[in-house]
Amino acid sequence: ACGGGEDAAPRTTPENGVRLGFSQVGAESAWRLANTQSIEHAATNAGVRLDLRVADGKQENQTAAIRDFISQKVDIIAFSPVVESGWDKVLQEAKDADIPVIVTDRMVDTTDTSLFTTMLGSDFTAEGRKAGEWLVEHYRDFNGAVRIAEIAGTTGSAPANQRRAGFADAIKDDPDLQVIVSRDGGFTRAGGEQVMAGFLQQHPDIDVVFAHNDDEGLGAVKAIEAVGKRPGQDIKIITVDASRDGLTALAEGRLNYVIECNPLLGPQLMELVGKVTTGQTIPRRVVVDETAFDREAAKAVLPNRQY
Ligand code: AHR
Repeated sequence: ACGGGEDAAPRTTPENGVRLGFSQVGAESAWRLANTQSIEHAATNAGVRLDLRVADGKQENQTAAIRDFISQKVDIIAFSPVVESGWDKVLQEAKDADIPVIVTDRMVDTTDTSLFTTMLGSDFTAEGRKAGEWLVEHYRDFNGAVRIAEIAGTTGSAPANQRRAGFADAIKDDPDLQVIVSRDGGFTRAGGEQVMAGFLQQHPDIDVVFAHNDDEGLGAVKAIEAVGKRPGQDIKIITVDASRDGLTALAEGRLNYVIECNPLLGPQLMELVGKVTTGQTIPRRVVVDETAFDREAAKAVLPNRQY
């Protein structure tokens, strides 16, 4: 199993180390910055020669980076796809060049699963479901409509699609819980604030916000305060990631429930890189262990939170 220990990848020197080309989504959130840092540190620790390209949220930049890795004949490619679909062609090119590909964080939507070796990342559907289950429980003894606003992640991305689906599935048997509006906040604080300001103008009676990440939720907090309401009290807020800023707002009572999505994938990724490049068998899917936090749990973990 992939335990994620820093010592798991084979020891190599910077000269003879495996060459890994990694295409990162962008720098949209605290999660993303922690993810990039984790990959950089783990590569250094494992003696992996990392060529990291950050795509600024654009699929065409990622495709160009992958093509560049192929022409440079790197030993292995890993990437976190900004959106789910549209990867078959470039992945086929990597396969034709005999370069293995590891998909990290976000899944690709492809019918040909031979185009990648393994997928390392969170179960986003489970994250959305945990958010919905908390809501069902929170309003169990409440009678009447609960108006939910969803601030979604990047349109077409795996976390946006799957968190929405998991959430919808968890609340579907409670007719009081109604998603009245949903819009893309781009996984950023500015996006969350802007989307929430628009929601509040159209729907001053929103009871609950489900934001697909902490940054969007923290942006929503600002927009709610700007209209003189109290986030966490007048409007309940659920988010995903459990970054230090997210857990701090939870501990202060401005968020109500936070689902963990762990960005520290670097050590597990290097372990997989080591195994793939030495011909060892690996599982097709490696899921990251995660939990969820209420206010008391946030207070308990905050002093040691790494991201
Ligand atoms: O793919 C993971 C998601 O992308 C995180 O939840 C979000 O914060 C990030 O931008």
